[in-house]
Amino acid sequence: MIASRRLMFAVLAGFMTLGSAWADPCKDLAPTRGQSGKDVIWIPTPEPLIDKMLTAAKVTAQDRVFDLGAGDGIIAITAARKFGAQSVGIEFNPKMADYARCKVQEAGMTERVRIITGDIFVENFSSANVVTLYLLPDLNLRLRPTLLKMKPGTRVVSHAFTMGDWEPDETMSHEYARGYFWVVPAQVEGDWMFSGMEGGPMRVSLRQTYQNIGGMFTRASNTQPLVGARLRGEDISFQFITPDKNVHTFTGRVASDRITGTINSAGLQTPVEAKRL
Ligand SMILES: C[S@@+](CC[C@H](N)C(=O)[O-])C[C@H]1O[C@@H](n2cnc3c(N)ncnc32)[C@H](O)[C@@H]1O
Repeated sequence: MIASRRLMFAVLAGFMTLGSAWADPCKDLAPTRGQSGKDVIWIPTPEPLIDKMLTAAKVTAQDRVFDLGAGDGIIAITAARKFGAQSVGIEFNPKMADYARCKVQEAGMTERVRIITGDIFVENFSSANVVTLYLLPDLNLRLRPTLLKMKPGTRVVSHAFTMGDWEPDETMSHEYARGYFWVVPAQVEGDWMFSGMEGGPMRVSLRQTYQNIGGMFTRASNTQPLVGARLRGEDISFQFITPDKNVHTFTGRVASDRITGTINSAGLQTPVEAKRL
């Protein structure tokens, strides 16, 4: 009887020890909400907003997500666990970075998530095609020139803070928290010569403020404004109306000094190409 009681206590004690170990193996490293960081304190982004931010950015297993100022690693872990991405978190505070690594391990995501202890203004994140931020307005503005030089089509999502006069392409919210989404636009400002279509080559002059574009086209000394010009990453489209009142729609892709695409004129598709002048 006594022996069996002893056995029961031993089993119970064993379960309790295991239970507390399972409860939170990262407990000793746990950060405090609001603790100071180098440039900004730590407050985590709520998970429902992270889901919306990564959904807006259309994150998939083909993506490489960098979270700048990773905190406990929640964005990097979610990008890997729910969206299948490879992700990297950059965190300045070494203890916080250790905690994030522990959380990555706890989530079983060590194959897909890396936490770098470092400064977001020093580390190179140019291999990202998705960048996430929860920083401060002035830090977003400091990062903006770097973000705008990233490969066109790179997606940027920020919790709470905007990018000055670079308007977001989309916004999202969860309760009182807001998120902002941008696609890094290709640089298209300037003059382009389109060739390949009927009626001879056409000169197109584009003006650009971030993703907002407009311009004029000139053909045989006739200059007219473009209509509905749109740029999203490398994807560009606009319409132009020729003197015969026909509406033509161009859709194409920008690759540095070359644009390739198709002009649709009353259902007739003509492949065209443009070179930067
Ligand atoms: C507001 S928290 C956001 C954490 C996480 N990205 C999220 O959304 O849940 C900002 C984090 O950035 C870190 N941080 C502050 N300045 C940094 C810098 N210059 N380089 C890297 N991390 C930094 C802080 O320690 C903190 O963990």
